[in-house]
Amino acid sequence: MRIVLGSGASHMAEEIKNKVEKFDKLLIESEVKTFPDGEKYVRVLGDGKEVLVVQSMFRPQNEHLVELLLLGDALREKGFKHLKAVVPYLAYSRQDRVTKEGEPISVRAIMKAISLYYDELYVFDLHNPKTLEYFPGKALNVSPAKAIVNYFKDKLGEGLVLAPDRGALERAKTVANILGLEFSYFEKKRISPTEIQMRPVEVDVEEKNVLIVDDIISTGGTMIKAANILKGMGASKVFVVATHGVFAEGAIERVSKAVDELAVTNSIPTPVSKISLVEDILSL
Ligand code: R5P
Repeated sequence: MRIVLGSGASHMAEEIKNKVEKFDKLLIESEVKTFPDGEKYVRVLGDGKEVLVVQSMFRPQNEHLVELLLLGDALREKGFKHLKAVVPYLAYSRQDRVTKEGEPISVRAIMKAISLYYDELYVFDLHNPKTLEYFPGKALNVSPAKAIVNYFKDKLGEGLVLAPDRGALERAKTVANILGLEFSYFEKKRISPTEIQMRPVEVDVEEKNVLIVDDIISTGGTMIKAANILKGMGASKVFVVATHGVFAEGAIERVSKAVDELAVTNSIPTPVSKISLVEDILSL
């Protein structure tokens, strides 16, 4: 199997290059440029039949999407027959329903566009896994739980794992089960994009280390509120982790101040992207 890296994977390139052989894959060189008018240029320099294209869709999201499509077209042109897209962070995944008449289901539009060239789609911790149904080919929501556990396993002791809301419970449960720890969740109500209400959890956190697991950190409001409640309940150390660090301006600093450690995966490159998804990606 060949691998092509788009510019949305350049922050993982070094690690992928070092590990690619171990996973029995061969990296194909690609060239990505931006023309003076802002349009993209791509070129793939290799041949084969089956290929995995790694392209995360963080900012500039639209450019990363166009690049993924151009790479798909280039690979088909070169005669590749089976294309797999690995998109660790899929942009637009949060717009998964029409809330006001006239809106699109953005995640559906993005998946349909990708399916024009790609037979398979792999996404990490998709906001709403049900939306994978919009991709006409094989589509999989990959869990980052193993990578998260490897990073935190020696820091938690006899602690527990919490989800910041009921919707995030499955994720926290998966992490807790691998670690053999207790798990629970907060009752969270969103009042506005920047205001949330959270009730204390009904488990004993006193003098325990707690890991809060979520899919996305944006403003950091959810994690800060949860951490403050836990500290107030006598928790020892509060660690927070999310798959995608979408971080609004100043969020890293605000969350870091409120908790003992903040970590996210490298689905998006940030100063706290301490957890690598590379081995999971190379296993696909
Ligand atoms: C909500 O559905 C998501 O799972 C996250 O909890 C949310 O995006 C976090 O946002 P913020 O960091 O702004 O509280």
